[in-house]
Amino acid sequence: MAEAAAPKKSLWAKHAFLERNSIWLMIGILLVVAIGGLVEIVPLFYLKSTIEKVSGVRPWSPLELAGRNIYVREGCYNCHSQMIRPLRDEVERYGHYSLAAESMYDRPFQWGSKRTGPDLARVGNKYSDEWQRQHLADPRSVVPGSIMPGYPFLAQTPLKTYEIADDMKVNAVLGVPYSEAMIAEALADLKAQATPDADGDGLTERYPGAQQRDFDGNPKVISEADALIAYLQALGTMVDFKLYDDKANIR
Ligand code: HEC
Repeated sequence: MAEAAAPKKSLWAKHAFLERNSIWLMIGILLVVAIGGLVEIVPLFYLKSTIEKVSGVRPWSPLELAGRNIYVREGCYNCHSQMIRPLRDEVERYGHYSLAAESMYDRPFQWGSKRTGPDLARVGNKYSDEWQRQHLADPRSVVPGSIMPGYPFLAQTPLKTYEIADDMKVNAVLGVPYSEAMIAEALADLKAQATPDADGDGLTERYPGAQQRDFDGNPKVISEADALIAYLQALGTMVDFKLYDDKANIR
């Protein structure tokens, strides 16, 4: 007959064989998936390390960590990324491209994939605290065309501090180098960082470069805005790129 079985050796015949024999089909799928997996995994074995060695990156201070938690809670990552790609337009707009080392203590990382607003990886010290407060409370009061929602309640909500030490313990389990002393002093460090005239020696010894002041303009209360602004002002400020040699990490 005209439509007799297709020639045996053809690709179609091989495929028909696979489609009709589920065990062989499974073996075939496994093989293809294994090749895909190897292609992704093998290059990693040939990199000494995917994280550059840079000085300056430290774990978040307790106040900054609390601010980071608010950043995550409020879903800021839905509109803001924290990862500057090594492309010319991005580097010219935001500064040096992000290094893996800069987010190595971020659990979970905040790289993000959506930029309704600008990248925030290096927003630290770009604006004054006053600007940040004003912008958080009512973005359109400082950036008239902004479509960012306002978060006026942050400055009115006292920061919940009872869980900060536990939070650091969990981070320590995940590999963030919070020492016993850091965890024991968590609450004291948190309060010291948001109180301008408090003794901040312990704080800056444990967290070099931690900025200590009243961030939200209300020295009486440590608010959620205090924590969030402390975090924003620290973003991207830890590595001194004048001392960083890009070529040192090409291996
Ligand atoms: C609906 C999207 C959206 C959300 C959610 C959002 N933002 Fe924004 N954000 C924007 C847009 C758009 C801009 C640019 C206009 C402006 O400056 O207001 C912006 C700007 C900013 C800037 C200034 C950046 C710069 O370099 O000029 C900061 C800081 C910021 N946002 C922080 C936050 C924080 C913190 C949160 C969470 C509490 C947040 N944003 C939530 C959209 C968003």
